[in-house]
Amino acid sequence: MNYPDWLVNDVARRSKGFLLEGFVAGAGPLNAQLFILGEAPGRNEIETLIPFSGAAGVELDKSLTLAGLTRSDIYITSAVRSRPYSIKSVINKKSGTPEMRRPNRTPTKKEILAHAPITDYEIQQIQPDIIVTLGNIGLQRLLGSTHTVTKDHGQILTGPIKELNQAQESYQLSDKTYTIVPMFHPAAIFYNRKLAPLIEEDWQKLGVFLHKKS
Ligand code: URA
Repeated sequence: MNYPDWLVNDVARRSKGFLLEGFVAGAGPLNAQLFILGEAPGRNEIETLIPFSGAAGVELDKSLTLAGLTRSDIYITSAVRSRPYSIKSVINKKSGTPEMRRPNRTPTKKEILAHAPITDYEIQQIQPDIIVTLGNIGLQRLLGSTHTVTKDHGQILTGPIKELNQAQESYQLSDKTYTIVPMFHPAAIFYNRKLAPLIEEDWQKLGVFLHKKS
C-alpha cells in the first residue's frame, strides 16, 4: 500500500528511540477478501520488502491453499511495520572472538502503539469483511490481552476492535463491528511441530466459512 507521507512521518516520529529498522509496507489488493494481520517483519522481509517472504511465509502460503486462497485474495500486513531487533554479544564458535548480533524479537506494546496509526489506516482503507490475525501480537492489538491464540484459534469472533483514541496515545473500541478469525502464527510450528494438525484444521474451517459466505 502507498501510505500518505504524513502517516509515514508520524509513525517515524512515534518510533524514535526504539530498536526498529527498515519499513515494509502492507501488500495486496485494496478490495481483498481477507485482511491478515501478523506481528512484525523479520530480517528477510526487511531485505525483500515483501511481507511474509521468509520461512514463515512458506508456511502461510500452505495454509492459504488449505483455505482455497492465494496471496492475490488477501491484504497482508503486521502490527509493526519495521523489524524489532535486540543487540547481543556472542562468541563466534570458529574464531572464539566476540561479535555483535542483531536478532529479530517480538515487538513491545509501546512499539505496537507507535505503529498503530498505520494499522488503523490500513483497516480504514481496506474495510475488510474478515480479519485473520496471526499469533498473539495481531490478535491482542485488535481484541486486547484477554484474548490468546491458544484459547481462541480457529474461532469466528465478532465485535469492535481496538483503534487509536483521538489523542493517539491509547486505544478505544471502534464503533464498527468486525469479524476476526485468530490463527496461530505460521512460525509457531517451527517451535512446536505438534501444532501442525490444529493449524491445518483451522485454515480448512476458514475455507468452509468463506465458501458458505460467498
Ligand atoms: N512475521 C510477521 O508477522 N510478518 C512478516 O512479514 C514476517 C514474519
